[in-house]
Amino acid sequence: MDLKLGGKVALVTGGSKGIGKGIARVLSREGCKIAMCARTMSELKTTAQEIERETGNPVMPIAADLTRAADAQNFVDAAAKNFGRVDILVNNAGAAPGGVIETLSEDDWANALQLKFMGYVRCTKAALPYMQKQRWGRIVNLIGNDGVKHSYWEIAPGAANAAGQNLTMSMAGRYGADNISFVAVNPGPVRTERWDGLVKAMARDMKLSYEEADKLAPKSIPLGRIAEVEEVANLVAYLASDLAHFVNGTMIEIDGGQQKQLMDVARNR
Ligand SMILES: NC(=O)c1ccc[n+]([C@@H]2O[C@H](COP(=O)([O-])OP(=O)(O)OC[C@H]3O[C@@H](n4cnc5c(N)ncnc54)[C@H](OP(=O)(O)O)[C@@H]3O)[C@@H](O)[C@H]2O)c1
Repeated sequence: MDLKLGGKVALVTGGSKGIGKGIARVLSREGCKIAMCARTMSELKTTAQEIERETGNPVMPIAADLTRAADAQNFVDAAAKNFGRVDILVNNAGAAPGGVIETLSEDDWANALQLKFMGYVRCTKAALPYMQKQRWGRIVNLIGNDGVKHSYWEIAPGAANAAGQNLTMSMAGRYGADNISFVAVNPGPVRTERWDGLVKAMARDMKLSYEEADKLAPKSIPLGRIAEVEEVANLVAYLASDLAHFVNGTMIEIDGGQQKQLMDVARNR
């Protein structure tokens, strides 16, 4: 299937590693010009060069800490200045601490919303004027199934995700008139470095060994495994394309049909 993404300008936040890197790579393979950000410029540059070498399409690395409004604005403006437009924004840079209510501090809660929710708000706000001017735009928010499949050991990510899902749907109601559409993608567990950190937190909070905690997620997924980055990236590329522009104000789970309650060690004891 030709996704007709050739020549589109796509902005990807958190593009240096994990799911963001996978998304930037697939969009670049499909012919997009990419601008991507992360805080660590050295890693971002290495990833940008790696993707450029593979696809032959331009990838612009821009250092930004999306917990700062000025950095988010600068990221979008610098990309628009370099490529002349902003067609696609993939909000992906996010992290929120796992853990139960006893272990989460006030700062953990504030930090969870500061990047995972407010980072998305900031980049969306900065990108909208460019998209309105073009009368075309696509915003794909990489969120997470914790927002709809709740669990008491992932309450901070769950709250940030639910906020992002609400944002996605609210924006769709307002900006359809400018031909800008919005969709949220909700992965379950995906094999990245960050997932490894979450398994460690689960082991700590559920008083399990790492090996025991690592088996919980596959057990909760009928397909018996967690997702690979490329599976999520391929879905995002399709959703970012014109072919899926009408998929608007909604969200799509990519979690193998995960049944989170099966991870509930306390209930299953
Ligand atoms: N992995 C999973 O199992 C999973 C499941 C569901 C949802 N998700 C969601 O998918 C997204 C990507 O997750 P991932 O596992 O791929 O994460 P990751 O491997 O930890 O990568 C995060 C990316 O975001 C960047 N980043 C972190 N803090 C930033 C900040 N303040 N400003 C700008 N960039 C920042 C990181 O680079 P720097 O550190 O250099 O800034 C990196 O490029 C997240 O929103 C996550 O919540 C992941």
